[in-house]
Parts: sequence; structure tokens; C-alpha cells
Amino acid sequence: MSTSSPVQDAALSAADVQRWRHLLAAEDAVLVAHYYTDPRLQALAEATGGCVADSLEMARFGRDHAASTLVVAGVRFMGETAKILSPHKRVLMPTLEATCSLDIGCPVDEFSAFCAAHPERTVVVYANTSAAVKARADWVVTSSIAVDLVEHLHDAGERVIWAPDKYLGAYVQKQTGADMLLWQGSCIVHEEFKASVLADLKRVYPEAGILVHPESPEAVIALADAVGSTSQLIAAARTLPHRRFIVATDKAIFYKMRQAAPDKEFIEAPTAGQGATCRSCAHCPWMAMNTLDNLAAVLRQGDQEVFVDPALVERAVLPLQRMLSFARTLQPA
Ligand code: 13P
Ligand code: SF4
Repeated sequence: MSTSSPVQDAALSAADVQRWRHLLAAEDAVLVAHYYTDPRLQALAEATGGCVADSLEMARFGRDHAASTLVVAGVRFMGETAKILSPHKRVLMPTLEATCSLDIGCPVDEFSAFCAAHPERTVVVYANTSAAVKARADWVVTSSIAVDLVEHLHDAGERVIWAPDKYLGAYVQKQTGADMLLWQGSCIVHEEFKASVLADLKRVYPEAGILVHPESPEAVIALADAVGSTSQLIAAARTLPHRRFIVATDKAIFYKMRQAAPDKEFIEAPTAGQGATCRSCAHCPWMAMNTLDNLAAVLRQGDQEVFVDPALVERAVLPLQRMLSFARTLQPA
């Protein structure tokens, strides 16, 4: 059995860091990485003045950073969001092939028809969507502010169309009591967590806390001690009193969880059903397409650049800016 941890695995030598700093500086570039990417990419972003964050903070960081090139290690919608918020910057990704099942499952034509059938409803879309879907929306949200935003709309008497994640939508509906029509999309990673096997694991580790991303099925969320976005789950790992956690989200997050709570233990929540040999495959296949090799290649070649139709940028920037302005009102003074 290996005794190394993701934190150790991610260790970069001083010479490595220096080499990467030169590569990034030569392109006036900063690296913006999601918590689900390879821990070595996360470590690199940290060591070179970039950021490792959830999708909301990635958007904010990219918009506010002075670099003329943003290198977004994550999935396609994250690169597009960066481009929409900073159209004058060059946005590169280690690979443009990295997409998301939620984005794939919400084609703009079908979604527009759905919205057109309910013109009286406010359209709220999750950040995990294409630029074209965002351009059709009144609001964009990420999981870190979804409950707050829908609560705000509900208090104002608005009825909502929610897309694309049906599990996150159902969770938000339950938390807020809002009238929500849900698009039936799902995340192929979080959808796989199995409540009954998780409950079995909890019986093995009765003192363990359970951390769950709200893209997971309702029965999994029901077992959680904390439900939240990736950054909220990392915060919960630090602040909750448990010494051990079972974590229902992409396991690359363990890198930051172990940094945040080095004396605690983290176990992957099960994705396989009873009797299966694979206990968990909780790793997003698209996030995994981001590697140090293709990062180096894109910095050298400048290919894999994100372009968004300017007509879409003009419309999609409005719900994104609304999201960032709303998020600012939630930050503690
Ligand atoms: P966060 O905004 O919580 O980082 O979620 C993004 C995501 O794709 C989760 O699967
Ligand atoms: Fe999309 Fe799920 Fe991957 Fe997140 S983990 S990027 S929601 S497929």
C-alpha cells in the first residue's frame, strides 16, 4: 500500500518552480486551477502566484488579475467564463477537449425552447453551461451561492427555471421552498455516489463526518454533515470537529483538504454498488485531461485558445456580472 499523500505527490522542486515561472512569465500568463485538477497543477498554481479555487473564485480571480494571458486548468465552461469576463485577455487551457456532462446535457436550442415555454419565469443557470446557454439566462450561479441567490429571488416573489443540474436544483428547492422548474441534467461523477454503501461505510467509521457536494443524489445529501461547493467543503474539513471525513466529491480535492486540515483523515465516498470491486471512481474524466505536459505544450504553442462569439459575450457577461455582484453582497464585511 502506498503511504504517500496527494500533498507529497504534488511536491515540486525549486528548480521545477523556477522553470515554470519562466514559462509563464514569457507569456505574461497566470495559472488558474480548479480543485479537481491534478494536485501537481494545483501546487504549481500556488507556487507561481496563480490560484486554486472553486468555479466562482476562478471567475473572480481571472477577471481581476493583471496578467494578459489566463491559463485555465479545469473544464471548458471555466475557460469560457474567464473569456466572457475578460474578452481583451488571451485565455488558454491545457486542453479544449475538457468538457462537462452538465454542459453537454443542456444544448442551447432545447434550453431556449424550454425557457420560451415559460416566459414568466426567471432563468437561473449553473456556471457549468455553455456561453450560449448563459447568454439566454437572467442569472448565472455557482454551487457556493445557489441557495442564497434562489432565496433572494423567492423572497422577491419570482418563480424560477433552473438548469442544468437536477440534483443541485432539487437541493436548492428544498432549502429555499422556491417554485423551480428543473432541467434534468446531471454530473456523471457526483451522480455515481451511492447512499446505501455510504451508510455502510459510516457504520464502519461511525465517528466520521460526511462531506457532500450538492451535485450528488438527494439520498447521499441526506447523510451529510456538510453540503456545499468545493471551497465550502474544504472549509468544513477545517472547521468541523471530526478527525476523519468521508468525502463525496472528486478526490483531487484531497490535496487542498489535507493542506487545510493536515491532522485529519479523508476517505473517498463509495461510487460502486454493493459487491462491486471498484469502491470509488470519483474523479472527473474531463478534469483529469489537464496535465503538466499539455500545460507546457500550450504555453509553448499558444494553441488551445478559448474563443467566444462576441455577440454571445455581450449577452452572457450580464448574468455573470450579476452573479459576481450578488456574491459580493454575501461576503462578510
Ligand atoms: P464548484 O463551483 O463547487 O467548484 O463546482 C464545480 C464543479 O464542476 C463541481 O463538479
Ligand atoms: Fe462537470 Fe461533474 Fe466534471 Fe464538475 S465533476 S466538471 S460537474 S462532469
